[in-house]
Amino acid sequence: MARKTNVPPTTTDAGIRVQSDEHSLTVGPDGPIVLHDHYLLEQMANFNRERIPERQPHAKGSGAFGYFEVTQDVSRYTKAKVFQPGAKTDVLMRFSTVAGERGSPDTWRDPRGFSVKMYTEDGNFDMVGNNTPIFFVRDPIKFQNFIRSQKRRADNGLRDHDMQWDFWTLSPESAHQVAYLMGDRGIPKTWREMNGYSSHTYSLVNEEGELFWVKFHFHTDQGDGNAHFTQEEADKMAGADSDYHRRDLFDNIHKGNHPSWTLKWQIMPYEDAKTYRINPFDLTKTWPHEDYPLIEVGKLVLDRNPTDFHTEIEQAAFEPNNMVPGVGLSPDKMLLARGFSYADAHRARLGVNYKEIPVNKPQAPVHAYTKDGAGRTQKVEDPVYAPNSYGGPAAQPLPTEAGLWHADGDMVRSAYTLREDDDDWSQAGALVRDVMDDAARERLVNNVTGHLCDGVSEKVLVRAFEYWRNIDADIGARIEKAVRDELGGESKAPGMASALSIGGSGAGG
Ligand code: HEM
Repeated sequence: MARKTNVPPTTTDAGIRVQSDEHSLTVGPDGPIVLHDHYLLEQMANFNRERIPERQPHAKGSGAFGYFEVTQDVSRYTKAKVFQPGAKTDVLMRFSTVAGERGSPDTWRDPRGFSVKMYTEDGNFDMVGNNTPIFFVRDPIKFQNFIRSQKRRADNGLRDHDMQWDFWTLSPESAHQVAYLMGDRGIPKTWREMNGYSSHTYSLVNEEGELFWVKFHFHTDQGDGNAHFTQEEADKMAGADSDYHRRDLFDNIHKGNHPSWTLKWQIMPYEDAKTYRINPFDLTKTWPHEDYPLIEVGKLVLDRNPTDFHTEIEQAAFEPNNMVPGVGLSPDKMLLARGFSYADAHRARLGVNYKEIPVNKPQAPVHAYTKDGAGRTQKVEDPVYAPNSYGGPAAQPLPTEAGLWHADGDMVRSAYTLREDDDDWSQAGALVRDVMDDAARERLVNNVTGHLCDGVSEKVLVRAFEYWRNIDADIGARIEKAVRDELGGESKAPGMASALSIGGSGAGG
């Protein structure tokens, strides 16, 4: 007898009513299960395929929907419709940690991802940034190695501070970001209370075809952007509620406490970039605000939670190459590489037709010549090729386009050409000396000391002291003393040597 309720009947995925939510079909109450219980089979088969691969970096995160509204007139810099006075655009945001897996604690020390997708009338515009204005490396050939050094060892599957400091101290360009990471920004209190940055330099172009360079700053309206957990608080929280940041965002939006950010730009005229004292495309550097002050643009508000985490957040695909007319990439080597990497990651993780997943679908009409492929649902119409004489879409170039900067030279493998004020240590030193106060510096020393006393080998330790002395002599000396006191002399940690001897090579590190 079917139960009479006011809920809809359970069906198979084909919409056919099923007989029971509780009992499989068997030969007699105590007999074997039969193979034609299709609903049971469908349930088991679907369950076995529920998990999709997690993002390689930035696996743990969450997000929400909202809008971006332009509050100022910045049309002199860009013709992008999404940045014209009064424009209001639907938005998806995702926040994340970098190195941890999908189930890892929200409060591990790490930069935080700050991804924005704007569903503009000219197509999707994605800004895939972090909560820090700079990054660890400046050449994409080092990115994969950098991420591997932050994730897990090959032998025991454990994260390893020796590996992390080994990479950092052999990559001095990481100093600025490491100073941020080991300071308060390394563990924000909530996602709502942190700032977000494009980090990279992008380009803007106005109606007249004039090109500008731009850095995006999303300043939180919930406090001053410095709310953080101490290492001790974060360690406790990792045990008490490993989903703390995810919960905080969801609960606040649910209660009607909608977080917002004010978008500001730093604008550099096109010609300035040729002679500015710092390479403006080097992702390890900020542009001093006294040279390029912040200009207010608009407000981003999150006011709607996802209702299905899997289809709306886990399957969200952000890609830095999604630029709309009026906004473009720049000669930053990292940014250009990201222009390939993300779409490729999405094809691997979500399938070639990931842009048909509703959360990734543009609100702008799509008239593309791609067709078929796994998971395709959008119907394709003839003609399926261009050029054609049967009324298919035809490219209509815009008179001016962002990204048309001048580039010419021999093909080389080389570091960026050094400018007058380009070095790896100065901006990290300024962060420690001029931005942090005494209490923040004390926390920095404690954080680095704790990190270095946890499994870092002597040879890497010695380089780490030098690294910090290069950032700031006083901080370096304080860290060295604190570590030596704590360890009672030299480090006994074996570093990579342990892996080699387990592997039988007998070689020491
Ligand atoms: C995620 C590659 C640098 C921010 C990812 C993913 C890949 C990737 C493959 C996973 C994408 C997915 O499966 O959905 C790279 C490469 C980089 C680079 C090759 C450098 C050459 C950066 C930088 C930033 C950044 C500099 C910040 C300024 C993010 C964020 C996510 C992410 C926020 C998570 C996106 C989301 O919320 O779904 N990155 N990345 N990445 N990356 Fe990068």
